[in-house]
Amino acid sequence: MALYRHNSELLSERRGIFGAVFKSLGQSEHGFRVVRRGRRFGRITKQRFSFWVFSLAVCFLIYWALLSIKMLFHGKMEGGISSLSEVQQETSGLSVLKQPRSKHRKIHHPCEVEFRASVDDLVEPKDFMNFTKFSLGYISREEKLFGNNLFEPRFGGHQTLEEREKSFYARNQTLHCGFVKGPEGYLSTGFDLDEKDKIYMNTCGVVVSSCIFGSSDFLRRPTSKQISDYSKKSVCFVMFVDEQTLSKLSSEGNVPDDRGFIGLWRIVTVRNLPYEDMRRTGKVPKFLSHRLFPSSRYSIWLDSKMRLQTDPMLIIEYFLWRTGSEYAISNHYDRHCVWEEVLQNKRLNKYNHSAIDEQFIFYQSDGLTKFDPSDPNTPLPSYVPEGSFIVRAHTPMSNLFSCLWFNEIDRFTSRDQLSFAYTYLKLRRMNPDKPFFLNMFKDCERRALVKLFRHRTVPSPPLSS
Ligand SMILES: *[C@@H]1O[C@H](CO)[C@@H](O)[C@H](O)[C@H]1NC(C)=O
Ligand SMILES: *[C@@H]1O[C@H](CO)[C@@H](O)[C@H](O)[C@H]1NC(C)=O
Ligand SMILES: *[C@@H]1O[C@H](CO)[C@@H](O)[C@H](O)[C@H]1NC(C)=O
Repeated sequence: MALYRHNSELLSERRGIFGAVFKSLGQSEHGFRVVRRGRRFGRITKQRFSFWVFSLAVCFLIYWALLSIKMLFHGKMEGGISSLSEVQQETSGLSVLKQPRSKHRKIHHPCEVEFRASVDDLVEPKDFMNFTKFSLGYISREEKLFGNNLFEPRFGGHQTLEEREKSFYARNQTLHCGFVKGPEGYLSTGFDLDEKDKIYMNTCGVVVSSCIFGSSDFLRRPTSKQISDYSKKSVCFVMFVDEQTLSKLSSEGNVPDDRGFIGLWRIVTVRNLPYEDMRRTGKVPKFLSHRLFPSSRYSIWLDSKMRLQTDPMLIIEYFLWRTGSEYAISNHYDRHCVWEEVLQNKRLNKYNHSAIDEQFIFYQSDGLTKFDPSDPNTPLPSYVPEGSFIVRAHTPMSNLFSCLWFNEIDRFTSRDQLSFAYTYLKLRRMNPDKPFFLNMFKDCERRALVKLFRHRTVPSPPLSS
């Protein structure tokens, strides 16, 4: 009986497993006598001996459980990542082995966000959309290059470095921005959608979207009572899933109704995923909502690890209208410099190290500098975003930035925190007289709008792609 009590104490106080074991041993009658009457050790009874063996076994079991949690999460996590600190809290029991107590364990709290009380009197401010004006076209098809028999169509196309350079100018242009088809007769490059879904998506003026590919998460429905009737009627909530995820969700009882909805989410199935790496595929809906929803004026992106618990119109009012911004993203809760982010990505083995180096060296040779918090003119409050929540007005600058950022993910690694600052700074540098109103808000504000969860634990995708 007593052993069970010890066991549960250990579980509730994971930080000091070993301390707790010894403490509880000291408190228990048996343990006390063992310690005090050390000299009479030889007389230990059979019962006491098995108590010790059992305690040791419990310690090791917990140790291995923690170790495997740590490995699972370190292999798994996407996006930098907000839940990293939470996992570190979970696994910090391990550090007890080396250090008696971790001194600075950061806990990340949400902060107060002053949303309007209701959507009733919301009106888009007059002239809000008066941002930098130009018009963008998108390359929809690439022809086979003359004499190239090995031509293989790609979803992201085959942008040359010269085309890439020109694409950063904020002016009328036609650029690569995903959804590039091959010549007539070639197979689809992927991200195929049903016609009826496309028709639905064409009607959306304001979009909240998210995705689950490769069954990497559970379906988290927006908190319905926080969403106004107005938004329920006029905002599209679209969850992109692949066929694997759809059947997994169905097997768990989450089956879309006749109209394709599960709760507020309209489920859109994506066939023929454009990349082997599910995370890279996830960047398509994340960055290219202006392409997927061609008539939309606003979009909110939400990682599937989060549950939306704030009305989308209040979010748009707070992050865009009130600050006169066309793009809003939160900064990272911990890291501000791309140099740190590179180290962290390698430390957690997030990605092929030489691919990270290739990208990082390229960026340094093209002007990426370290983040300088002491510089009063620093163009951003942080060079590392926490991109699991993005609010956008679909203005030309905002759309251009989204395409450019996506193209970096297509060309280099899929780790979008590595390319964010470079893309932003280069866009600004190449268009000094054309402002881009980006609102980089605090991570604690993001935490106020959503409820965070951990990703579902599934085997990690291959490191290579
Ligand atoms: C729109 O922006 C331009 C340039 O920033 C400014 O000159 C113009 O007055 C603005 N128009 C309105 C109606 O606010
Ligand atoms: C850019 O495109 C817009 C709309 O297509 C057009 O009205 C404008 O004249 C173009 N600007 C230039 C500089 O070509
Ligand atoms: C890692 O990336 C490098 C450079 O992009 C590539 O040549 C190599 O094949 C990749 N390694 C693996 C294991 O995929």
